Formats: sequence, structure tokens, C-alpha cells
Amino acid sequence: MKSNPRPLALVTGASSGIGADLARELAKDGHDLVLSARRIEPMQALAEELKGLGAGCTIIASDLSKHGAAAALVRELETRGMVIDVLINNAGLGDNGRFDQSDPLRVSEMLQVNIVALTELTRLLVPPMVARGKGRVMLLASTAAFQPGPQMAVYCATKAYVLSFGEAIAFELKRTGVTVTTLCPGATATEFSRVARAGCSALFKGGLVPVMSASEVARIGYQSLKAGRGVVIAGLLNRIMSTSSRLSPAPVTLRIANWMMSSRK
Ligand SMILES: NC(=O)c1ccc[n+]([C@@H]2O[C@H](COP(=O)([O-])OP(=O)(O)OC[C@H]3O[C@@H](n4cnc5c(N)ncnc54)[C@H](OP(=O)(O)O)[C@@H]3O)[C@@H](O)[C@H]2O)c1
Repeated sequence: MKSNPRPLALVTGASSGIGADLARELAKDGHDLVLSARRIEPMQALAEELKGLGAGCTIIASDLSKHGAAAALVRELETRGMVIDVLINNAGLGDNGRFDQSDPLRVSEMLQVNIVALTELTRLLVPPMVARGKGRVMLLASTAAFQPGPQMAVYCATKAYVLSFGEAIAFELKRTGVTVTTLCPGATATEFSRVARAGCSALFKGGLVPVMSASEVARIGYQSLKAGRGVVIAGLLNRIMSTSSRLSPAPVTLRIANWMMSSRK
């Protein structure tokens, strides 16, 4: 396989929100893109826009909630002779409500997309980067990673996994030329809150910390990826909140998280 003259970035969850804006940042900075998600139409519109910025775009539809989807995506890249220089593991979803009342299928979907597919894609795409002595990886965690989250228990636990995994492999990969940036946004205006049924929570009503725009989060994330930073919390107030939730006694943190994530009409 031959290397691209322009670096090639794979963005999962590129059909909306932070993923689409990360793709815009990458295109503006001279990357070609592989866009992946389930919905093709919004990715086609994005690809047209990015072509205007001079970026070559390939769309590969993939449902990462399916067993083996990450391996199939990597096989498709190999079949097309595509060498990934930048991996943006962005696809993810949440769910709001009490765990015992949650949809078991939605729980599996969250575990599969947020944890399994992210880990498998990283496992499959990082070794060639290490062999080339060059590569950039981004993992989308969340400020939800910094404390347990009643009303979003599984989602917060998946993001705690991503944060732990990201910090550990960033350390392992020091001096290989491959960096791992774990981006932790707080509440961000995307389709996430609708999909997670969390739009009526204090978190997404901007109750304590203002909701950020996807473009701002992506700009911060991309600059951090480029600089090879490790863990990055988007926004000063989110940094303060995440640090204080780590330092506060657990019962206090749990009460605040429960208040932030509870849905109220
Ligand atoms: N918005 C927030 O407040 C917030 C805060 C912290 C962290 N995050 C994280 O940021 C990342 C991006 O979320 P967002 O806010 O941009 O939300 P979003 O607008 O809902 O975007 C989520 C993306 O993930 C993709 N996705 C979901 N399920 C998938 C599946 N089964 N297979 C493949 N792709 C799938 C979606 O594409 P399709 O539906 O087309 O498949 C979409 O492109 C997620 O990891 C999220 O957890 C978001």
C-alpha cells in the first residue's frame, strides 16, 4: 500500500455534531478524509463541502454497534489501499434514565459503540502507525468520565473507560511517534441530547455550565491533537467542574451529577 501525499484521517461519527466539525478542521488543515457513520446523506453533503476545501473524501457506511464492525471497516480500508494517518474515534451515544428501567438493547449499543468498536479500531489501526513511527489518535471521552453519573450510569461508565484507556495507551506509546489525545467535552449542542433523551436535563439546559458549540469543541480538540496533548477538557468551566468533582467527597459528587442529569419538563 502506498502512503497518501496528503495525510488521511478516518473520522467515525462523521454524520453530525463534533465528528462533522472535526472533519472540517482536518480538511482545512490539509487532510483527506474517510467519513464513517450509519447515515450516508449527511456525510455526502459534508463531503461536498470538504471537497470545496480541497479535501478528498471517501464515505464508508458502518454500524459500529454490530459485532465485528470495526474489523470490517478496517478490511474495507485495506481493500481500497487506504493508509490511515489520523484516527478520530468519535462515534458515540448516550441514554438518560434509571438503569433498571433502560432498554437492554440501547445498553448493548452504548457498550459496543463507545467501548468495543473504539478499542478494536484503535487496536487495528495503531500498529501500522507505530511501524511508520508517526500517527495521531483521538478518543472522544467526556466530562462524564470524571464521576459516576446517576441517570446516565452506563454512558458515564463507558466514558470513564475511554479516559482510562486513552491515558494508559498515550503513556505506552511515548517515543513511538504516535500520540493519543483524549478529548473530554462537556455539554455540547449536537444531536447527542436528543438521541440520549437528555435535552430536558439541567446539563443540557446550561444549568451550571453553558452548553458549548460543536465547532468550538472541535477547534479545541483539533489544536490539541495537532500538539499531541494527552487529556484535554474543552472549556474553562468544564475543567473547573471536572477537577472539583474528582476532589469532592463521593456523596456530594453523586448528588450533583444526579441533579445535572435528571430530566425535568
Ligand atoms: N454532545 C455532547 O454533549 C457530548 C459531550 C461529551 C462527549 N460527547 C461525545 O462526542 C462524540 C460525538 O457526539 P456528538 O455530540 O457529536 O453527538 P451526535 O451529533 O449525536 O453524533 C454522534 C455520531 O455518532 C454516530 N453513531 C452513533 N451510533 C452509531 C453507530 N451505531 N454506528 C456508527 N456511528 C454511530 C452518529 O452517526 P449515525 O447516527 O449516522 O450512525 C453520529 O455521527 C460522542 O462520542 C459523544 O459521546 C458528546
